Amino acid sequence: MSKPIVVLTRRWPASVEETLRGLFDLRVNLADEPWSRAELREALCTADAVCPTVTDPLDASVLDVDGMRARVLANFGVGFNHIDLDAAGRRGLTVTNTPGVLTECTADLAMTLLLMTARRAGEGERLIRAERWTGWCPTQMLGTRVAGKTLGLVGFGRIARAVARRAHHGFGMRVMFNTPHPPPADVCAALGATPCASLDELLASADFVSLHCPGGAATRHLLDARRLALMKPTAFLVNTARGDVIDQEALVRVLADARIAGAGLDVFDGEPAVPAALKSLDNVVLLPHLGSATQETRIAMGMRAVLNLQDFFAGRTPRDRVR
Ligand code: 8YV
Repeated sequence: MSKPIVVLTRRWPASVEETLRGLFDLRVNLADEPWSRAELREALCTADAVCPTVTDPLDASVLDVDGMRARVLANFGVGFNHIDLDAAGRRGLTVTNTPGVLTECTADLAMTLLLMTARRAGEGERLIRAERWTGWCPTQMLGTRVAGKTLGLVGFGRIARAVARRAHHGFGMRVMFNTPHPPPADVCAALGATPCASLDELLASADFVSLHCPGGAATRHLLDARRLALMKPTAFLVNTARGDVIDQEALVRVLADARIAGAGLDVFDGEPAVPAALKSLDNVVLLPHLGSATQETRIAMGMRAVLNLQDFFAGRTPRDRVR
């Protein structure tokens, strides 16, 4: 019996590709450049399973292709806002993601951004590399103390809880969160985290705000000009979720006018494009979507997609089915 054809839209870690090659008829985008919509349509028409990433816009215009062969989209990543689930549903596609395995590393990166912005690490690094450091000075590049400050988490899923654990138990921060789905009180108590009834209240009282809600239509520009204006002038904003959760133009304005103290951004609206205005600001730390980018996690994400594909082709409901 012939093996199902599985297409990877990008290169995956070598060990995962090897595993997939042993199980399926594997086809890989060896050029490892994001495919065009036409190339994505072609993959959907020639493969039984397509394994996309955040760089593949699987919207209705792609998924409504004539001659669809694919039956499953095994996404490499936990976020799936680049896939139109309604359109996938109309085409009878099963969609899976890779939850759990990237929680710790993404939480680490949120803390990296929090610390880098508070302690002006990017700015200091640039100073040395530009040969502009003339020596230690009592008043040079003074940042903001983290211990004892209040961290406000927007969303309180796995990654936010892993950030809460680090911030509270590791850095002595007070943690509050806002979510439509609060966990039981004992979960909050173990993380030293208190629910905050409204997002506006959280934004107005936090010294650091870190975003951990899903991307997509429901959260687009959740942090708009009005909400950004609620933040304290001394507060920092961290985003490891999705770029379009923030109104990027409004963010540039509040940063440029020093109406907030700084921002640490791992994701951007329209990435990989990053507005020149953001790059010109010293109170911003910019990272190229590194949230889950460790050897261990990227292999674990790939292996989780393998399990989902195995489930699907064995006739079981994939463990991480999202549609
Ligand atoms: C991934 C992410 O690297 O999993 C997610 O949702 O944002 C990243 O950590 C990326 O999405 C891979 O497709």
